[in-house]
Amino acid sequence: SIDVSTLTRQTGLTALDYGFVNTASTRSAITYIDGEQGILRYRGYPIEEVAANSTFLEVAWLLIYGELPTADQLGEFDEKIRHHTLLHEDLKRFFSSLPHTAHPMSVLSSAVSALSTYYEDSTDPNDPEQVELTMVRLLAKLPVIAAYAHKKSIGQAFLYPDNSLSFVDNFLKLNFGNMAEPFQVDPVLSTALDRLLILHEDHEQNASTSTVRLVGSTGANLYASISAGIQALSGPLHGGANEAVLQMLGRIRDSGEGVEKFVERVKNKEDGVKLMGFGHRVYKNYDPRATIVKQSADEVLAGLGVADPLLDIAKELEQFALQDDYFKERRLYPNVDFYTGVIYKAMGFPTRMFTVLFAIGRLPGWMAHWREMNLDPQTKIGRPQQLYIGESERHYPSV
Ligand code: ACO
Repeated sequence: SIDVSTLTRQTGLTALDYGFVNTASTRSAITYIDGEQGILRYRGYPIEEVAANSTFLEVAWLLIYGELPTADQLGEFDEKIRHHTLLHEDLKRFFSSLPHTAHPMSVLSSAVSALSTYYEDSTDPNDPEQVELTMVRLLAKLPVIAAYAHKKSIGQAFLYPDNSLSFVDNFLKLNFGNMAEPFQVDPVLSTALDRLLILHEDHEQNASTSTVRLVGSTGANLYASISAGIQALSGPLHGGANEAVLQMLGRIRDSGEGVEKFVERVKNKEDGVKLMGFGHRVYKNYDPRATIVKQSADEVLAGLGVADPLLDIAKELEQFALQDDYFKERRLYPNVDFYTGVIYKAMGFPTRMFTVLFAIGRLPGWMAHWREMNLDPQTKIGRPQQLYIGESERHYPSV
């Protein structure tokens, strides 16, 4: 690889790289991907091992600090997070100022941005203690904000966090519990959600993580950077794809056009229609996360006793696409978003919450990258170049 900034200085040449297909913006020791082989590792550990052996918070620690936590470290981390779950009562009023039709991703991003106004004591990016506190606050409060966005959208009362519960169980109760009845956590749901969150925890320099780094490179605080990352994630070409996949499957079912006809439309690029949940900038092989998610989909639906025709449509679509030359030539395989929506739906989440679940999962990765960037003495403000193609100098008619 070449250090382009030195080359640019020496030669005056600028590399034009739409979509940063071949431009590394940083060195990083967090996540390794081999897109040709379909390999993903967090801090060196294969994703399959991580998903089978850890909990979400344990992986968060691994990503942020580089090593698996000891039992004491994990216990202390978990305790601190439980301690910070409450939202300021004034911040709860913020939700009533938004329409109940608001997309939960917009609510999430706005509320995270608003957090910085309540916690000015932890907005200095150069104070390690403040950064630690912000990371704990974000991990503790993001699921609560997400659940309140959900409750608001369905017109139900907000519940207070139950700190006797684990991270995931607390989140499930905040979403699916109510004031009138005791809440029983379903272990099938809890285990499956924990695993899905782990699979989303990091994916190196994707669009939202690069956004978090870029915003952070200006010296902006962690709340601002994460808020921007959430917005970047919301797009249908990125995290928003999990929501788009379910909409696509629903349309195929409702229109009765059948998988074959739909794939034909995709291949003809009719109205720009894409096979959502397929293709990836880095993976030119099966996304290793999709393999695990697909297996989970079968297990979870069976465990919850749910039969969803959308899962059958998804499988048929996958089979069909994998045998088709259009997808073979372009090396398009299912990505992590292809099967997640079917599971979230079976769990009882509305479609518009799907990308919010992705954001909760991705939070540790964003923070690990933000912290790595801040600690790296080579970090500079992110500032891409352009090749100017507009008018050369010209003047107002009267001059
Ligand atoms: N359906 C149909 N055709 C596709 C798809 C798809 N899902 N993905 C790529 N292609 C085609 C493109 O049209 C292009 O065809 P062409 O050579 O005839 O012009 C070719 O494959 C290469 O695709 P690019 O768009 O150049 O690939 P890029 O790396 O820029 O995009 C992306 C990657 C955005 C993920 C793309 O595959 C896509 O739009 N997929 C659907 C949305 C999606 O699932 N996003 C989630 C990604 S994973 C994540 O963010 C968590």
